[in-house]
Amino acid sequence: MAVLVTGGTGFIGSHTVVELLNADEDVIVIDNFFNSKPGVINAVQDITGKGFGFYEGDAADKELLRKIFRENFIEEVIHFAGYKAVGESCEKPIMYYRNNIDTALAVLEVMEEFGCRRFVFSSSATVYGIPEKVPVTEEFPLSSINPYGSTKLMIENMCRELCRADERWSIALLRYFNPIGAHESGKIGEDPNGIPNNLMPIILKVASGKSPNLSVFGNDYPTPDGTCIRDYIHVVDLAKGHLAAIDSVRNKKGAVPYNLGTGKGYSVLEIINAFEKVNGVKVPYVIAGRRAGDAAKCYSDPSKANKELKWKAEKGIEQMCRDAWNFVKNR
Ligand code: WQD
Repeated sequence: MAVLVTGGTGFIGSHTVVELLNADEDVIVIDNFFNSKPGVINAVQDITGKGFGFYEGDAADKELLRKIFRENFIEEVIHFAGYKAVGESCEKPIMYYRNNIDTALAVLEVMEEFGCRRFVFSSSATVYGIPEKVPVTEEFPLSSINPYGSTKLMIENMCRELCRADERWSIALLRYFNPIGAHESGKIGEDPNGIPNNLMPIILKVASGKSPNLSVFGNDYPTPDGTCIRDYIHVVDLAKGHLAAIDSVRNKKGAVPYNLGTGKGYSVLEIINAFEKVNGVKVPYVIAGRRAGDAAKCYSDPSKANKELKWKAEKGIEQMCRDAWNFVKNR
């Protein structure tokens, strides 16, 4: 019996595979290395001392998925594979719809063909659009403010309608807030191909001297220091949330959303200061204009996940900053 992890060599995928292996789960990974590197496979095996099945390819390839299901007894699927750059999605919406929707549909269709109906979906807090207030609960209205977010919302809707049509399905919709950090070993971390979009990878480039400074997108928001507030969560805590979700889909039917966040918000300047303090490095920055689509404040109320998944984020912002920098120093 195995858990199939699509996109399992990516940032969150690889950390989730580590936690699954540590919990003695059998794991099969499919990945096309679009946003990851083959070296992650050995790194995960080094960290855990365990092996796992690996198939290189596109999770939208139904013939490859059928091969995986024929060759392994897959009981659950955790679906990470998909494009995830908000900015890029605004420039190339059709590419995002084609890739993210096709991939999710292919995975669900082949799961159905093999009678596998336990699905953990990598959703995102972006399905809340620009929340009217904080903290955000799962009952908040859903909307999309960019094509990336639209694909996440569409796939969530597909899952809800699938469960209404066939009550045998068990689906956990995990809405991530802002994952940062890296495994304490420094062997895996956030290592995106191409130009990073998110705050922490850019801080890491500036701290490494690869970029002259960080542009802080606006300091005139209605927040204590004028910069945007987000719910940063350690990627290892997030990975453990997927382990809890696997337990949940083994016992509960229907499509259930969960906020995976810390419930705490930190501003951009607070992140910069924490990073500098913990790591003893400077992160030069300039104040730039606001970025379109940014919410002043977005952080979670994670109490539903705490209660129903018996999961709670444990690592603080200092640990997130330390582990993120440790990964870069280790490369
Ligand atoms: C965080 C804060 C920026 C870069 C996105 C996706 C979301 C999820 C996480 C996938 C914001 C500020 C950033 C920079 C800056 N991804 N910033 N200068 O936008 O909260 O969420 O990533 O699920 O779906 O929407 O994350 O890291 O881009 O920005 O000032 O160079 O850092 O304005 O306030 P975001 P982010």
